[in-house]
Amino acid sequence: MIRSTHARRPAVFTRRTWIETAARMGLAATVSHSLPLDLLAQATDKDPRLITRSVRPPDFETPVELLDDFITPVAAFFVRNHMLPPAVDKGSWTLAIDGEVASPETFSLADLRRMPATTVTATIECAGNGRAFFEPPVAGIQWGRGAVGTARWTGVRVVDLLRRAGIRRDATHVWMAGGDRPMGAQPAFVRQLPIAKALDVDTLVAHSMNGEPLPLLHGSPFRVVVPAWEGAYSVKWLNRLTAATREHDGFWVTGSYRYPTKRVAPGSVVAAQDMAPVSGLVVKSLITQPLEGAVLAPGRVTVAGFAWAGEYDITRVDISVDGGASWQSARLTGERAKHAWRRFERSVQLTRPEAYALLSRATDSRGRTQPVLPAWNPAGYLWNAPDVVRVEVRS
Ligand code: MTE
Repeated sequence: MIRSTHARRPAVFTRRTWIETAARMGLAATVSHSLPLDLLAQATDKDPRLITRSVRPPDFETPVELLDDFITPVAAFFVRNHMLPPAVDKGSWTLAIDGEVASPETFSLADLRRMPATTVTATIECAGNGRAFFEPPVAGIQWGRGAVGTARWTGVRVVDLLRRAGIRRDATHVWMAGGDRPMGAQPAFVRQLPIAKALDVDTLVAHSMNGEPLPLLHGSPFRVVVPAWEGAYSVKWLNRLTAATREHDGFWVTGSYRYPTKRVAPGSVVAAQDMAPVSGLVVKSLITQPLEGAVLAPGRVTVAGFAWAGEYDITRVDISVDGGASWQSARLTGERAKHAWRRFERSVQLTRPEAYALLSRATDSRGRTQPVLPAWNPAGYLWNAPDVVRVEVRS
């Protein structure tokens, strides 16, 4: 029997808008002092059904009811920030390319828009998606099932920018710096990519999301998009790309987004030398139909959703209506894009008037299948148990 991933639901979060939540918590005054007005305007452009996981910094989760489309609307796309978005003047914001290059370059938004554009359809998932389901609990934002979404990202290939600046052959890494506003003593958000992933033709500096200019909360005027890798590589408010011959030694590389190299006992402390960076996403699925708690008439029911596996393809998805005792294979359908999730659907018979746990379990081209119990790790990354939705059939 597979345990329900909804067993422990965070109690404190409600589906209110960020503004409503701020007001309810008595933070409205603080908010208007500490955040630029354009952020307030942008925040209200988000779907009011988003789940507020944090007010400061603004972190919003997408409720599963808004994840039933192959392309996630911009208004519904989850938001993950470690600090505060900057006050952005799109006209003067620049991207510097420096380090191990023949001639350092600076690009404005207008410069990037003049360069050849590439569009990549990619699913972005936060490494901490599903953190709330780990036992024992781990610290951090208690994301449920919706820190994931798929968008069409348009921009300039990172490889084209690095070549324009004449990247040297001995560069091993590219450091990516975001222009967020730290809260207190937070170090600047600088992440790194190994050179091969930076030069991948699908790694972009994106200025558009689903055909619209990138909104502030998603990194305006431009951000990195690193398809297939966990979301923290996709640095927003990008202001510098540095070609380097060594690893970056800042907190966001050495102190976070790291995962034990061996399985560890739940609740243990893991030494820094026994951790490695999280990179590619694991195999995972999400049931978007029916919704948790649905009351259904007896008969045939379509179980549908999305499955993704980072750099690998989804090869099958199985559905169970009996808590994992038996499985039926789902049809893979809809648009197929290299770095995007894949739609699955299965019509199942739910005849008896009783409660059901509907499960989905994906397998990928590397042979990975969603585990019954994902490995516990200190930061609660990469939760990927089979998804579970509980419904009731009433005659
Ligand atoms: N970039 C900057 N500059 N600052 C951040 O806090 N968060 C990262 C990444 N890029 C972050 C960032 C994380 S953890 C994730 S999951 C994605 O952005 C989320 O992208 P989104 O907010 O557009 O959904």
